[in-house]
Amino acid sequence: DQGTPLKGKKVLVTAGPTREPLDPFRFITNYSSGKMGYAIAQEAKKMGADVILISGPTNISPPKGVKVIYIETANEMFEEVLKYYGDIDIVIKAAAVSDYRPKTYSDKKLKKQQEVNIELVKNPDILLELGKLKKHQVLVGFAAETNNLEEYAIEKLKSKNLDMIVVNEIGQKDSGFANDTNIIQIITNKGEKISYPKLEKRECAINILKKTIEFLETSS
Ligand code: C5P
Repeated sequence: DQGTPLKGKKVLVTAGPTREPLDPFRFITNYSSGKMGYAIAQEAKKMGADVILISGPTNISPPKGVKVIYIETANEMFEEVLKYYGDIDIVIKAAAVSDYRPKTYSDKKLKKQQEVNIELVKNPDILLELGKLKKHQVLVGFAAETNNLEEYAIEKLKSKNLDMIVVNEIGQKDSGFANDTNIIQIITNKGEKISYPKLEKRECAINILKKTIEFLETSS
């Protein structure tokens, strides 16, 4: 039991993949299960926070007492996050937002052809925009990388104006997408680097929140 160190605090978590539709039947997405984000939302609630979870499509039932808003596309996620951002104390962006979406959407099912070229355009980088708008909020991002983890993570932490970044290696057994366990590292804008052993996602969530709470304490 962690007590209720987040009592009176508003926490916004994003989780899961986004879906970027091509036509009424087809979309582009990724392997994100939503497990990490849902675990964070659940543990934040247990620690006493008011929690809003903005979620892409997952198979997980919503954590008790958490306000869940379901979205599909990155643009929908962006819109929902912006509605709440001004009033939030902690934002944890665990969602695997699709970096691209099909340039055009066909409201009729696309016909079978010999060869198809799908043109993609960039989605908004939600976290980057939140970093620009940041006032009192503690902003936590994720970096899922297959190589050069630390270097990319530090670059993201700086370029997106984050307080903290959680690094997890994907494509490794017991870590990353769809697993129940994760191997994470936390890097802060104060230059701290903490490596954790393989842990249940629930335990990872608790560690992430504990570290985030230190930012609330030092900034107030
Ligand atoms: O730069 P990269 O996409 O790898 O950064 C990952 C972090 O940025 C994650 O926290 C993810 O939720 C967030 N992100 C976002 N909007 C995007 C892409 C990523 O908020 N379009």
